Amino acid sequence: MKKLIALVTAIVMLLGTCALADTLTMGTNAAFPPYEFYEDETIVGIDAEIAAAICEKLGYDLEILDMNFDGLISAVASGKIDFAMAGMTKTPEREQNVNFTITYAIGVQSIIVPENSPITCLDDLYVEGASYKIGVQQGTTGDIYCSDDFGADAVSQFLTGADAVAALVAGKLDCVVIDNNPAKAFVEANEGLKLLDTDYSEEEYAIAIALENTELLEKINAALEELIEDGTIAEIIAYYIPVEE
Ligand code: ARG
Repeated sequence: MKKLIALVTAIVMLLGTCALADTLTMGTNAAFPPYEFYEDETIVGIDAEIAAAICEKLGYDLEILDMNFDGLISAVASGKIDFAMAGMTKTPEREQNVNFTITYAIGVQSIIVPENSPITCLDDLYVEGASYKIGVQQGTTGDIYCSDDFGADAVSQFLTGADAVAALVAGKLDCVVIDNNPAKAFVEANEGLKLLDTDYSEEEYAIAIALENTELLEKINAALEELIEDGTIAEIIAYYIPVEE
């Protein structure tokens, strides 16, 4: 009888393990609405939902780790996370260390200023003798463009876009340069701020995967293609970024 119980227990345990799906770990920086942000304790947003749809299609469980944006590429490269999805722009520099999937969304850099700001357009930042304090999120494309164009002295780096916006609200900065949809969300969430468009060109958001993990790259690309084709991605984006009438 004891043996039978042991046998049954072993079978049940074995079945249990088989039923448990493998987990994919996604790294992100969850202060970047509408792509990733906290709703109570949970990370939600366009990236979290697309990642969940991909994992469901591929039969994985999804775990999301919140980390510093500028640590994401090395976390992917070292295998600490399976992929990074963080409104992350595909750039040639990053592509030296990770592979990117196909593009799933588009972003453009924007400028957030206080409502009464003397800055009215991107060109104002370049005017001879101008010395504006520009806030950015460390390691982002906004940081790279501004540090290149205006020099490290003009640029204050923050760990999150939300921290940069808080410093702007507190009067410590003249503007924040950040992707357009998070910029819109920050302007909506804070009194006294407005958004300026720029003519920075479009950036392509994609998922970063370790160079050697081409199997996962192919799987995720196949899932993304299906989710683009059947309208799931457009639906998720439209939910978080309602089209203005
Ligand atoms: N698109 C920009 C970049 O790739 C900013 C992304 C910031 N993302 C975030 N989740 N904080 O550099």
